[in-house]
Amino acid sequence: MSENGTAEYADEADLPGLVGRAVLAAAHAGFEWSCRPAQGRLLRLLAGGVAGGAIGETGTGFGVGLAWLACGAGPGTKLFGIERDPERYEAAAELFADVPNVTLLHGDWTGLATAAPFDLLVLDGGGQGKGAEPPLEPRHWIRPRGCLVVDDFTPMSSWPPAFRGEPDKPRLHWLRHPDLLATELQLTPDLATVVARYTG
Ligand SMILES: C[S@@+](CC[C@H](N)C(=O)[O-])C[C@H]1O[C@@H](n2cnc3c(N)ncnc32)[C@H](O)[C@@H]1O
Repeated sequence: MSENGTAEYADEADLPGLVGRAVLAAAHAGFEWSCRPAQGRLLRLLAGGVAGGAIGETGTGFGVGLAWLACGAGPGTKLFGIERDPERYEAAAELFADVPNVTLLHGDWTGLATAAPFDLLVLDGGGQGKGAEPPLEPRHWIRPRGCLVVDDFTPMSSWPPAFRGEPDKPRLHWLRHPDLLATELQLTPDLATVVARYTG
């Protein structure tokens, strides 16, 4: 959860138009948890690696991350986002109404399964295994050799990585998953993301 993620865009010049409009909608609604610019740029880059196929995102919020993904994806790639909050869903659906390869779904993240399998799957609101809920199983969601992204970690400063003094179990789950080749990328001094390739 990127607290102040939306506010970080105040210092950003030359944002892609779609990203700028999503940020404006989030800021207007007082939504602070948009993906941070560094994470957005990573998403745009990864989306560019998907030739055709499908990209999915759980927890679309006001659409900032999905907008970065859409800016990086080629015209033959389909993108799907899901958001359970009605106001956020409505705003994101309006934002992408004119973008033909983007589909917005309303509901719990598990509903994104209707569009699986994905070549690139971004977990930003469900499926990460960060709360009480179990994490999703990559083989049910990702195409063989597809990519998984789980963001919003603090950069690891020890092994095993710790969170609030305890081993960071959600992060270790992804880094040690037997079906994934996973690594942690440090995007800013205080932000890290796990990127993994499904080996199935
Ligand atoms: C960190 S914010 C998302 C930011 C957004 N991806 C972006 O890039 O700007 C997490 C979002 O996930 C949504 N969310 C949380 N739990 C969810 C669930 N079980 N199903 C669907 N959406 C969920 C929240 O309503 C919130 O909008």
